[in-house]
Amino acid sequence: MALLELRRVTMRFGGLTSVSDLDLDVDPGQVVALIGPNGAGKTTAFNVVTGVYAPTEGSIRFAGREIAGRRPHEISRLGVARTFQNIRLFRGLTAAENVRVALAAAKRSGLFDVLRPGSWRRQETTLCAEAVGLLERLGLSHVADTAAGSLPYGDQRLLEIARALATRPRLLLLDEPAAGMNPSEKQDLGALVARLRAEFGLAIVLIEHDVRFVMDLAERVSVLDHGEKIAEGPPEAVRRDPAVIEAYLGAPDAGGAPA
Ligand SMILES: Nc1ncnc2c1ncn2[C@@H]1O[C@H](COP(=O)(O)OP(=O)(O)OP(=O)(O)O)[C@@H](O)[C@H]1O
Ligand SMILES: [Mg+2]
Repeated sequence: MALLELRRVTMRFGGLTSVSDLDLDVDPGQVVALIGPNGAGKTTAFNVVTGVYAPTEGSIRFAGREIAGRRPHEISRLGVARTFQNIRLFRGLTAAENVRVALAAAKRSGLFDVLRPGSWRRQETTLCAEAVGLLERLGLSHVADTAAGSLPYGDQRLLEIARALATRPRLLLLDEPAAGMNPSEKQDLGALVARLRAEFGLAIVLIEHDVRFVMDLAERVSVLDHGEKIAEGPPEAVRRDPAVIEAYLGAPDAGGAPA
């Protein structure tokens, strides 16, 4: 059974259809790339899966449950985490503090936990240890005490992933995680995605413009154009698909042809 299953999902904003009749399956532990020119509806697809918007039509099932229209925190609790195209970090807090905030929010201790003597401190200690572990996992230990806003761009993207992992997801949605990264940072990111999948069995959907970057990473590439899925398959086949080439080359201000 697919972990995530979109059926005929449509998202309209007034007269504009951003996502149209979209079917998408993601199996447990699978890496899927979602590509397409600017304005194709990629981020909107993430927004309906994570509950930012209730889809106008269609069904979204996660781990067998219907989640379309549920609130973002409920969907997060079920095991769906994401990063944002426009980085959302607490810029004035350190990297470690950013992760601790995410961990605390994911745990949401009840009233009794907070009132139990000594429990607050115990919890703080646990959160700190977990934050250290997550930063280590992403190779960010050396910047743990640096303000998020002063980190290099690539590290900010990694810190966003650390925050997403704090919720212990089964499905991770990454919205252009490689944007603004230099080639060596991109390579590290690729290795990280492969590791998250191998070590933690995470299913990952990756929005990305650079098909070459997802070539070795994704088992499947789904291509959106004007809200519609125009192609889907193994990266090598999708890259040669005339409809895909047309979508990228046909639009004058598209994000560039798939490399
Ligand atoms: N809240 C909203 N209200 C109105 N229109 C929206 C809203 N969100 C997205 N859109 C529109 O939906 C279309 C798809 O946008 P979306 O951000 O999903 O594209 P994208 O594929 O992520 O593009 P990019 O590669 O530039 O990030 C665009 O025309 C956008 O302007
Ligand atoms: Mg987008």
